[in-house]
Amino acid sequence: MYTLNFDTAEFISKNWQQKPIVIKNAFKAFEDPISADELAGLAMEEDISSRIVKTEADGWNVIQGPFEDYDEHGDDKWQLLVQAVNHWYPESQPLVEAFRFLPDWRFDDLMVSFATPQGGIGPHIDNYDVFLIQGEGERRWKVGHNGVHQCRGGDASSPLVEDFEPIIDVVLTKGDMLYIPPGYPHCGETLSLAMSYSIGFRAPSQQELLTQIADTLIDNNTGQHRFTSTEESANHGVVSQTQQQGIMDLLAQLANYPAQYQTMLGKLLSQNRFELDINPFEQAISETDVIEAVEDGANIQRIGGLKVLTLESDTQEQLYVNGEAICVAGINPEIISIIANDHALTQAQLVEWLADEKLLIVITQFINQGWFFFSE
Ligand code: SIN
Ligand code: CO
Repeated sequence: MYTLNFDTAEFISKNWQQKPIVIKNAFKAFEDPISADELAGLAMEEDISSRIVKTEADGWNVIQGPFEDYDEHGDDKWQLLVQAVNHWYPESQPLVEAFRFLPDWRFDDLMVSFATPQGGIGPHIDNYDVFLIQGEGERRWKVGHNGVHQCRGGDASSPLVEDFEPIIDVVLTKGDMLYIPPGYPHCGETLSLAMSYSIGFRAPSQQELLTQIADTLIDNNTGQHRFTSTEESANHGVVSQTQQQGIMDLLAQLANYPAQYQTMLGKLLSQNRFELDINPFEQAISETDVIEAVEDGANIQRIGGLKVLTLESDTQEQLYVNGEAICVAGINPEIISIIANDHALTQAQLVEWLADEKLLIVITQFINQGWFFFSE
């Protein structure tokens, strides 16, 4: 059990997306949910995104995983970082659960790092919110102000920035937490062999939104409207101010069709940046198989990291799962809301619910897709 030892409502009003904060003892009696050996094992897997960063005299050298062996890196000056550990290592899920005081659509992943003394990834700026929780070991963190910072070595394609004047300079020990909103430069230096946990949150960028809008329009063969006008400029080479505005208004009109806008948004926000541990059934199971399994005592659980979302006032009655829109019209909205909120559906709930054939079909589909699975 991971229970946060601070007032989350106060944190949201004073710090969330605004300013960094150090919370000593954010978790009382913190226990690492994963060992360094287990983490090293995950980083050997092809599907899991990992990297090693080595601290060198002239900068930081990044080597992408998977890895076969760690001996060559020695005892210090390197750090292993593994993304989306919550997708692959169920024992890490309770730590993620502690951060569900923020909505699922914003959650990105749990990144776990193992760092040797003097290991770090260099001073950098992230474009997402991060909660850095210290497990075993000690790391010193510096955070700078969120003004303008020079790209390190003039390389604008890298998140690294030049050294900065810290506004926070702190040593984190087991159970301490540092929250950093987007735009604040930060740098961690490892003092002793350390495990750290980064819980990341991000919202879609304009680029991602526009790409998703374009994909949805192409998929649905919509968005064919063109600009029309009844007045034209007498100047051959001029696009009038009214026409510039009118053309841009065509874009804004897309937001006036909630059915399209909501589907686009639900699909976008339920996607995952990292691979999920999806294992679809080789041979599809039937609705009867699902009923039998539940009657035999099975619960049903979603795989780690899967996003299951609903949109308030959805005109389409859809559930959004892993980038897909699933029609749930005619199913009790209270049940849909529980499916979107709870990671596990109990046998007692299912026995009652699966009498609804529409729901049974949806749940069977989710199991066949490999999104949900039977559990004890
Ligand atoms: C680290 O643990 O050094 C990387 C985490 C971060 O800076 O976001
Ligand atoms: Co960072």
